[in-house]
Amino acid sequence: MVTLRMKGIILSGGSGTRLRPLTRVTSKQLLPIYNRPMIYYPLNTLIKAGIKEILIIIAPEKAGEYLNLLGSGKEFGVKFTYEIQDKPKGLSEAFIIGEKFLDDGDDVVMILGDNIFEEDLSKQIASFTKGARIFAKEVHDPERFGVVEFDKTGKVISIEEKPKKPKSNFAITGMYIFDSRAVSFAKKLKPSKRNELEITDLIKCYIKSKELDVSIIKKEWIDAGTFDSLARANRLAQEKLHKNLII
Ligand code: DAU
Repeated sequence: MVTLRMKGIILSGGSGTRLRPLTRVTSKQLLPIYNRPMIYYPLNTLIKAGIKEILIIIAPEKAGEYLNLLGSGKEFGVKFTYEIQDKPKGLSEAFIIGEKFLDDGDDVVMILGDNIFEEDLSKQIASFTKGARIFAKEVHDPERFGVVEFDKTGKVISIEEKPKKPKSNFAITGMYIFDSRAVSFAKKLKPSKRNELEITDLIKCYIKSKELDVSIIKKEWIDAGTFDSLARANRLAQEKLHKNLII
């Protein structure tokens, strides 16, 4: 395993209201997926890629659970830093909360605590040089996600958050790599109509300067935020994922 000059963020806050009553006393991202808590899967993706410093962003009322479960990171050969997000004010807020963690100008890969990837994405993470890289997956229900539209040559034409009429079937998955400008771009964003600092608006900053590239996910990807996708994640973990986990 290589060590990269890249830091990791796992965004694992929010209130998990869609999964109640499962999330009444615990965090969504700590629910069991087969034989591991959910957050182990995105953590596995980062640690496998050689990322050694990982910021975990959590909701205040669940902070103790995360510390008890994950501790310092020594057990996994990495260093965890924790920050609190008081309210779920949007995915891009992670880079404002993480400003101090990111203050040495390193690149950063952020993954959502409820996103599970079957694919080993280590190569796509290690080969990042500058700008932004996102990961898209062809799905049958793109209106539930951020959506990216390409032209015939594969160039990105548009990005929209949960469009009613999606311009393509490519969902933007919950993993994003940015260079160190992400912090200053995030600080300039305005809240959207649903009052969030949208990740799609941050990505758009990199489209303007033609510095966005998109990597297509071929194997399975699950956003485990609904009862059905949670059940699917359990099956995937039982049948395939558990064999390749390193933590
Ligand atoms: O899963 C991929 C999708 O994630 C992307 O396609 C979308 O572009 C992106 O906006 C996001 O959509 P979701 O509908 O899944 O977003 P949600 O509000 O459910 O948040 C995703 C996870 O991030 C969830 O586990 C809670 C956590 N979260 C969310 C927000 C808004 C936070 O920790 N803090 C926040 O402020």
